[in-house]
Amino acid sequence: MNEIATLLDPTVIRSGFPSLRDGRIYLDNPGGTQVHESVYAAITDYYRDSNANLGGPFETSVASDRLLAEARAQVAGFLGAGSDEIAFGANMTTLTMHASRTLFRELGPGDEVLVTGLDHDANVAPWLLAAEDRGVVVRQVGIDPEVCVIDPNVFAGLLSDRTRVAAFGWASNGAGTVNDVAALCALCREAGAISYVDAVHFAPHGPIDVAAVGCDFLVCSAYKFFGPHVGILFGRAELLERHRPYKVRPAPDEIPQSWETGTVNLEGIAGTAAAAGYLRSLGMETVAAYERGLATRLLEGLSAIDGVTVYGTTDLDRRVPTAVFNIAGRGPAEVAATLGQQGIFVWDGNYYALELMQRLGLEGSGGAVRVGAVHYNTAAEIDAFLGAVADLA
Ligand SMILES: Cc1ncc(COP(=O)(O)O)c(C=O)c1O
Repeated sequence: MNEIATLLDPTVIRSGFPSLRDGRIYLDNPGGTQVHESVYAAITDYYRDSNANLGGPFETSVASDRLLAEARAQVAGFLGAGSDEIAFGANMTTLTMHASRTLFRELGPGDEVLVTGLDHDANVAPWLLAAEDRGVVVRQVGIDPEVCVIDPNVFAGLLSDRTRVAAFGWASNGAGTVNDVAALCALCREAGAISYVDAVHFAPHGPIDVAAVGCDFLVCSAYKFFGPHVGILFGRAELLERHRPYKVRPAPDEIPQSWETGTVNLEGIAGTAAAAGYLRSLGMETVAAYERGLATRLLEGLSAIDGVTVYGTTDLDRRVPTAVFNIAGRGPAEVAATLGQQGIFVWDGNYYALELMQRLGLEGSGGAVRVGAVHYNTAAEIDAFLGAVADLA
């Protein structure tokens, strides 16, 4: 692990995460990460120094306006977007429920939406519900369970000049696999469809540049990248302007505020900006390079244990350090509970990746165990986890 150690120093990284001092092995990160100390400080500072609603003629309100503007700029920088292209909300699911209704407002029978059999339901159900309301036809991209990635050829075959929106994920939270999002976005552009990318699972693991990837919308959640429970929506300014979000009448008509419903979570947004700033200071390329070592160790280690089945492609270029697996003869709930008793935290279940679990034949049998590392995890933690799995197998 020397090569990894030179990229990021785990001791330095871990000192920035107070909750890691408890000695537990947090490998439940795809469900939500631990929080960086700069986030605690930003939230406390907000409450102490500038707690007020927006738009008032007094000091704390002006400070809140400034904080929101600075947070938009910081998060925009994290995603390669413009500040007027970032809207905040409760979480990714709420933002997507909202966006799907807005984007479907003028659609009807004859229009189509494309969803995938790989996505978290938060990027499927909102489109199904909006389609049902408007009589829009739904098409679904099927997934090869051997690889658990979206095949661009299959995707292209389902796009047509009737497709208005295609919703797909950057990385799968149910398999740990990574899609070729730039290729999928290019196909959407050719077909004249809006691309709506779920980057919730990818965001803590690698660089995101919405301009380079060519997406129209992208959503993520700060609690998955070391921040608080706040959702983020990027939309291309032209599209945010063109579509009419559902909103209350006195609220601002200008983007991006027009896409935010009600009073935003200013303390959470202060923390979100701190989390984005922390990651930008590390550099997501550096994070990705460090994590590649963890992913290699994790996937190779799991695959080498007799009786363990790991789902999805083994191509490390197409993976984040998340692995989804089962142990022959042991239920996933039993495995997760046993590891939990040993202080090793992992999830079991379907992770809301419903179609994927059905396709893997696991939906009726408790799903699978999910282990997910991030940049604060160490090789020693992966080894402890692998040892515990080997004992169980
Ligand atoms: C890939 C993916 N998309 C969407 C979501 C939903 O995000 P939120 O909890 O912010 O609504 C999750 C949450 O686990 C996720 O993993």
